[in-house]
Amino acid sequence: MNNHLLALKDLSRERLSSLIDRAIVLKAETARKIHHRQLAGRRVSLLFNKPSTRTRVSFEAAMYGLGGQVIFMSSKESQLSRGEPLKDTARVLARYVDAIVVRTYGQQIVEELARYSTVPVINALTDLYHPCQILSDIMTVIENKGAPEKLKIVWLGDGNNMANSWIEAASVLGFPLTLACPADYEPDPAILEASRRRGPAPITLLHDPEEAVADADVINVDVWTSMGQEEEQQKRLQAFQAFQLNRDLLARAKKDAAVLHCLPAHRGEEITEEVLEGPQCVAFDQAENKMHIHMAILESFIGGTNTP
Ligand code: CP
Ligand code: NVA
Repeated sequence: MNNHLLALKDLSRERLSSLIDRAIVLKAETARKIHHRQLAGRRVSLLFNKPSTRTRVSFEAAMYGLGGQVIFMSSKESQLSRGEPLKDTARVLARYVDAIVVRTYGQQIVEELARYSTVPVINALTDLYHPCQILSDIMTVIENKGAPEKLKIVWLGDGNNMANSWIEAASVLGFPLTLACPADYEPDPAILEASRRRGPAPITLLHDPEEAVADADVINVDVWTSMGQEEEQQKRLQAFQAFQLNRDLLARAKKDAAVLHCLPAHRGEEITEEVLEGPQCVAFDQAENKMHIHMAILESFIGGTNTP
């Protein structure tokens, strides 16, 4: 069994579904103040090379919530910043902890860590993917709208790390997905092609936001300038103008369409204040669900009792 979580395409439909199902159970149990101790005596290392609010705190809260312990380290403060190889870092950390959660730039960095680590490596965002986020997003879709196979789910904006992971999720879990991206900001073509071959349901790439959101049940938005792309910000502001989720664009979707945003949001850019704070937006439930999905992920990948 593949015991790293680097990309959603590497996991089976059954495993992805069971993580989401388990997170829904854990959320209900947490609400009933049921305490979990499955990971007592286990430790996880968080190795982050980009800023984070939600992913860091929700992984830490999840590990503590399962009775385990967390060691956070910014890459900048580690010997990685002075040139220690990833392969040495992976082998050393694996002697201390039961899993390594990594946020970084290149996907090849998490892949190399996984190659040398004897404990699970979990991708907490790279330039290419954000797999854990998409699992909590799908959980949020299920809670609000039901089975994704029966929905029109739309990705609006940049063909970025989030879009790539949505595409892989659609292909593995077998639900249709519609994306609308500016022509120069499409998702990774190799990921799109492989996912279209893998999945039973259509993955449609459009360039017209109005066409994409027509009758949508779910609309996902994300920042136009991801971490690491700050120098392109002005150019991107121009390119994405027509992709802002505002009242007029949202009116083209179903009346009760759910709006998702992984946050942080740039109000007035990819989404207006009115839509972000409006009744259709579930971004803060989505943020909460990150903690529940991270509990399910840590439980499953580190092991312990009650593992799905
Ligand atoms: N959604 C998300 O990954 O947020 P952070 O960057 O705050 O972790
Ligand atoms: N696409 C964004 C997601 C942030 C959670 C980024 O990579 O910055």
